[in-house]
Amino acid sequence: MPQSTTVSSATQPRAEWTGQIGFIVSAIGSAVGLGNIWRFPGVAYENGGGAFLIPYIVALLTAGIPILFLDYAIGHRFRGSAPLALRRLAGRLGEGIGWFQVMICVFIAVYYTAVLAWAASYFVFSFDLRWGADAQGFFVGEYLRVSEASFTLDFVPAVLIPLVLMWVITLVVLGAGVVKGVQRVNMIAMPLLVVGFLVLVIRALFLPGAADGLNALFTPDFAALADPGVWVAAYSQIFFSLSVAFGIMMTYASYRKRRSNMTTPGLVVAFANSSFEILAGIGVFATLGFFAYQQGVAVGELEGLTGVGLAFMTFPAIVAEMPGGPVFGALFFGSLTLAALTSLISILEVVFAGVIDKFGIRRKTAAYGLGGVLALISLLLFGTTSGLIALDTIDNWANNIGIVASAVVMSVTVLWIRRAGRELSGHLSALSTFRVGRIWLLLVSVLGPVVLGYMLVATVIDLSGSPYGGYDPGYLLIVGWGSVLLMIVGSVVLTALPWRSDPLAFTPWPALDRAGAVVAPRSPEPNDNAGGVR
Ligand code: ALA
Repeated sequence: MPQSTTVSSATQPRAEWTGQIGFIVSAIGSAVGLGNIWRFPGVAYENGGGAFLIPYIVALLTAGIPILFLDYAIGHRFRGSAPLALRRLAGRLGEGIGWFQVMICVFIAVYYTAVLAWAASYFVFSFDLRWGADAQGFFVGEYLRVSEASFTLDFVPAVLIPLVLMWVITLVVLGAGVVKGVQRVNMIAMPLLVVGFLVLVIRALFLPGAADGLNALFTPDFAALADPGVWVAAYSQIFFSLSVAFGIMMTYASYRKRRSNMTTPGLVVAFANSSFEILAGIGVFATLGFFAYQQGVAVGELEGLTGVGLAFMTFPAIVAEMPGGPVFGALFFGSLTLAALTSLISILEVVFAGVIDKFGIRRKTAAYGLGGVLALISLLLFGTTSGLIALDTIDNWANNIGIVASAVVMSVTVLWIRRAGRELSGHLSALSTFRVGRIWLLLVSVLGPVVLGYMLVATVIDLSGSPYGGYDPGYLLIVGWGSVLLMIVGSVVLTALPWRSDPLAFTPWPALDRAGAVVAPRSPEPNDNAGGVR
């Protein structure tokens, strides 16, 4: 590993969370997002109901938490955004993987903001139940004005205005900095989210039919466990939901003070995220039980129990029939808005931290300049009548191909090519109350790449076979596979560009020997200028 004691006094110290709480709350804010409220209940229901909890917990323990620790160890030891930290750890190949993660975040950010904007609109619509008696017709027809065309420049003002607003809010928060922007918003939004969502879930549990909804979610279909697709769904869900393997946790860990416990906060974040996810499943299915009861059908006979349909068609339809519907709707869409906003902030922070570190530009320039360009792309793609298909396609390719590929390539590069396992486990153990050892190494270096590699191959075969979502294969080739190609090209180009300051002028701390043991326990912490870049 390249080491140097060069100190560049010209650079600013790296931003730091004010303490452990700021870090944990911001990391939970990132993890709890659309994945928990919008994705989890439907995915669990479709993949074996109660039995899904088995692969879900296995995925959390064998890949989610171990890769979360890997992200933390790299970001914290090498104190950088994904491209910088991975460059310091694994050279140019590492940097390329870092930029690939940045590119994944670019693609996710442009559509994630669209869903955030819909959620914010629906929060406002809840107060007068604007969608009326036909929630599906309202969403697709009146609100999104979805057209058959693959790409149009026919803007929809009702979507465009909240979309602009959400971009402005997010960029202002990010422009204000890690502590004054990101941490501050999380410290306000997360308690509000938890209280609001708890009230919603408790209310849902007292609705008639709630028990039937919970039975539908939790009655196990053990036969589903024999289906490899169910396991793939569990691992994908954990990655997206826990914000691992696409740069977020690495970037957030780089803002931790040098002498910081990393593993215990990691466990807190992982279990808080999964608890929220299960709580969301309970709240959503109790509400669906009520809907089925109203209609006189079984929960299994309801349609639109996943993704966009669940949140923006089925839920509004239920709210319209419920006593106190406007309050319930406002709680649901308000929670969705807060959860998505704090996650979006973390997704874009990966992008801005990457360019700030590499090109030495100011945070505000990154947020308003680059952020402005991303906002324009997002408005062009999702502020128009063709937004829904593009969103579904990019979401599928970015998550199921992009994130999984990033996890496999990163683990193989860091642990097999660079052989940094002992150094990284030594780093976590030297600083943390909860030590990691051989089991962690085995999980991240063997089980993770094998399971994820299998998932990746299965998904590629699946997507190359039948056209996803029944869409036009030519469209999927351009928008789906084209997105992945752009991510790769982008990462190659960004890696080739010169650094503003030498990324390798940096001393990892604490110093460790080859076995990962601390060699100079009394060595002073280097100050944070001990690197060419912030
Ligand atoms: N972890 C974030 C979510 O669940 C990205 O939506």
